[in-house]
Amino acid sequence: MRKKIVAGNWKMNTNLPQGHELFHEINEYCNTIDLRELSVIIAPPFTHLISLCETDNRCIQLAAQNCSDKTHGAFTGEVSTNMITSSGANYVIIGHSERRKYFGETNEILKNKINLAIESGLQTIYCCGESIDERQQGIHKDIISQQIEKVLYEFDNKQIGKIIVAYEPIWAIGTGETATAEQAQEMHACIRSLVNQKFGEELANSMTIIYGGSCSAKNASELFEMKDVDGGLIGGASLKAQDFIDIINALIKS
Ligand code: PGA
Repeated sequence: MRKKIVAGNWKMNTNLPQGHELFHEINEYCNTIDLRELSVIIAPPFTHLISLCETDNRCIQLAAQNCSDKTHGAFTGEVSTNMITSSGANYVIIGHSERRKYFGETNEILKNKINLAIESGLQTIYCCGESIDERQQGIHKDIISQQIEKVLYEFDNKQIGKIIVAYEPIWAIGTGETATAEQAQEMHACIRSLVNQKFGEELANSMTIIYGGSCSAKNASELFEMKDVDGGLIGGASLKAQDFIDIINALIKS
């Protein structure tokens, strides 16, 4: 069976004490539940990673929100995949639409980042998603196909096994407007079939594909009921412990 995942993307929110408080509250709750079939992941700002990794009785996995596409050297302000691994984190988010939009990250750059992440032993959460214009033009599936083919098709079966895909329609991120469960299911099935075409049925069926974009305690259950939705990448609602815990519970019950 596929691993279910709830991942919280804190983006550029919380200072260190606030981050600790939020993390401890969620971690305490997660220590009371069975996490054999479900991973809870949090992606805090870089500055929090090392100290959160050292949390006593930590059952939450940690992710970086980004990584460099270079291994080392004179790249002021960049953080390499090896640095992330050495902090104790196991995951990295790559290709978030905010990185594509505000930091000019192209498919070529994303491919390099994923390659380095895999080499460093990190699991990648690869984000893809269409804009509102693209959906209105009816080309949302073409856009997703490009984002999958131009980046993920460059890897081999072994590498693909280290990748989780997050479908995040840009029009739903931070807007309060979620994709309907049917829209999410349609796109997740499309992603799974693209993976199937290139890497075969076994890998496609074992790939975790999560949904992101205004996923909340209110709509999570409906989304998680869909057969190709294996969890969520949560932005805003991951900043409130109780909301995030409610989303974890929705996934457990799905
Ligand atoms: P949101 O963000 O839940 O606030 O819409 C999701 C994301 O950007 O990963």
